[in-house]
Amino acid sequence: MQKVFLIAAYAHNRVIGFNGAIPWNIPGEQSRFRKLTTGNVVIMGRKTFDEIFQKLKKPLPGRINIIISKTKSYSDADCYTFSTLKDAVDFSIKEFPEKDIFISGGESLYKEGISLAEKLFLTEIDMDVKGDVFFPDFNENDYVKNIEEEFTEPVSYRYVTYTKLS
Ligand SMILES: NC(=O)c1ccc[n+]([C@@H]2O[C@H](COP(=O)([O-])OP(=O)(O)OC[C@H]3O[C@@H](n4cnc5c(N)ncnc54)[C@H](OP(=O)(O)O)[C@@H]3O)[C@@H](O)[C@H]2O)c1
Repeated sequence: MQKVFLIAAYAHNRVIGFNGAIPWNIPGEQSRFRKLTTGNVVIMGRKTFDEIFQKLKKPLPGRINIIISKTKSYSDADCYTFSTLKDAVDFSIKEFPEKDIFISGGESLYKEGISLAEKLFLTEIDMDVKGDVFFPDFNENDYVKNIEEEFTEPVSYRYVTYTKLS
């Protein structure tokens, strides 16, 4: 069955980014992102994709990259582009029925996508950092929370899964 998920990491005050980048560098912190998304579909906003492309000079390897943009097209970068999140999700469900779909940021995709996702894979990082984009507030009572793994080095952080109550 098709699964639509959301995956994000945030620091204190739900900060997810600053100045077009992720404002922390914690070795190993992204290992759950890599593990869960590899072989699956990642859907992201244009700015998030541009940041990745600038760093890697290519889309996220081993994943179907779908970018949401009303101003640019990325088909020449071996990606799919849609102008709405809904179109991207509908396309993924139709074209890749065996894959999981991960809504992967930034701020407005999380805001819109949180209601579509049956699970939220969140990394909660115990750091105060300056931010200009944030993960949206959501009602924790609508979910079952499970702390999957906790880390203390080099900072304290944890992998948490919120599963939507049906
Ligand atoms: N911590 C994390 O887990 C995480 C994950 C992802 C990103 N980030 C951080 O988040 C920041 C980027 O996020 P952001 O919110 O500024 O930008 P973004 O969502 O990555 O990109 C914004 C652009 O995407 C398109 N877009 C986004 N939502 C849309 C929607 N609902 N409908 C139509 N188009 C939409 C628009 O592109 P057009 O203007 O081309 O139409 C918009 O200008 C960076 O700092 C990044 O490092 C953090």
